[in-house]
Amino acid sequence: MAIQIPRGTQDILPGEVEKWNYIENKAKEICQNYQYHEIRTPIFEHTELFQKGVGDTTDIVQKEMYTFTDRGGRSLTLRPEGTASVARSYIEHKMFGNANQPVKLYYNGPMFRYERPQAGRFRQFVQFGVEALGSEDPAIDAEVISLAMEIYKQFGLKNLKLVINSLGDKESRIAHREALINHFKPHIGEFCSDCQNRLEKNPLRILDCKKDHDHPLMKSAPSIIDYLNAGSKAYFDQVLSFLQALDIEYEVDPALVRGLDYYYHTAFEIMSNAEGFGAITTLCGGGRYNGLIQEMGGPETPGIGFAFSVERLIAALNAEGVELPAAHDVDCYVVSIGDETKMAAFNMLHALREAGFSADKDFLGRKVKAQFKAADRVHAKFVAIIGEDEIRQNKANVRNMATGEQKALPLDGFVEAFKKLAVLGES
Ligand code: HAM
Repeated sequence: MAIQIPRGTQDILPGEVEKWNYIENKAKEICQNYQYHEIRTPIFEHTELFQKGVGDTTDIVQKEMYTFTDRGGRSLTLRPEGTASVARSYIEHKMFGNANQPVKLYYNGPMFRYERPQAGRFRQFVQFGVEALGSEDPAIDAEVISLAMEIYKQFGLKNLKLVINSLGDKESRIAHREALINHFKPHIGEFCSDCQNRLEKNPLRILDCKKDHDHPLMKSAPSIIDYLNAGSKAYFDQVLSFLQALDIEYEVDPALVRGLDYYYHTAFEIMSNAEGFGAITTLCGGGRYNGLIQEMGGPETPGIGFAFSVERLIAALNAEGVELPAAHDVDCYVVSIGDETKMAAFNMLHALREAGFSADKDFLGRKVKAQFKAADRVHAKFVAIIGEDEIRQNKANVRNMATGEQKALPLDGFVEAFKKLAVLGES
């Protein structure tokens, strides 16, 4: 049997790949308007980076990493997300010393998680993410959230819901942690082995358990909102006022804890409400990670960011019936009649491309009718027809495929004449 693609991965074929390019380019353009700058980090990193950065007790680190030993005996891991790599790079390149602060970055590339594949969940997926490092102004939380919303808005998505929560500062988290331990401890035997392990290490993770999420103790668990100290509450209120100032609607959900360990204060997700979007409704996730840079050996630096996958964005666009620009159309398809014309057609094709036109011709020796059909299939705007008679008369007939109008253009200086016709509309 022929070798097949690995589970949870996909080929993006011509016809579909144009959507990806369009999305990635447009998202980059929006980020640049917000003064975020691109960063590219390696696809694999030392395994330790994610153990430390994402957190030992997370599903990602415990169950989902693609980890391998290289020929030098080092443990490496295909990146499951981008924030830990950006944090490493920030420290390694001493970006805390940059003149421009905060450091505002974006990235775009494949991530890898060994998850159970289903609609909207892949083992290799493309994340587009941003990180703003070095500011603890609630306005930057709102900027990051509004940037995510703006990206979705500019693609024409309408059925969106922003869900937001605060996980508080260290002090609030410690108080909440104690309350969670006291809440779950007497009944921990009724929970899965993962939750039992998480009880002392990171009880917040229990709230995110996929197996036990229907256990009655989950609903009655102490909510972080009730444990926010005055500073954390004031910070959260300010983030919400900035969102209100931008007319961004949100829903506060005290149960939103996120699946990664590095979050403090703001945590948010953008969901799709579109009918038929599927069971996984989260399009985008992010939040503030004030302790991360320090934990990884850098100076104390606040940070906030988000990431979304292009796969889920495309699924949302499909669910809402949004059409993106299609494949790059052909400006001119060169049809040649008779063997003697092959060289002239080949030269014309080259000259058109050199002048910046998108052009193509037949390479299968097809009859004229089939060449016209091929021109139709690629939505050619014009067809240039060269026959033996035309070569003798030093001309080519150019047909406007939308109007059916036909015009003879000289073969000498053809491209100039074509430019006038196609770009300037001169007849
Ligand atoms: P995350 O919630 O793990 O956060 O992932 C962010 C987004 O990546 C999700 O909302 C979803 O769009 C996409 N995603 C995750 N896993 C898959 C998958 N298996 N298949 C398809 N799409 C997926 C993070 O990764 C954080 N680094 C986000 C962040 C940046 N927080 C602060 N800065």
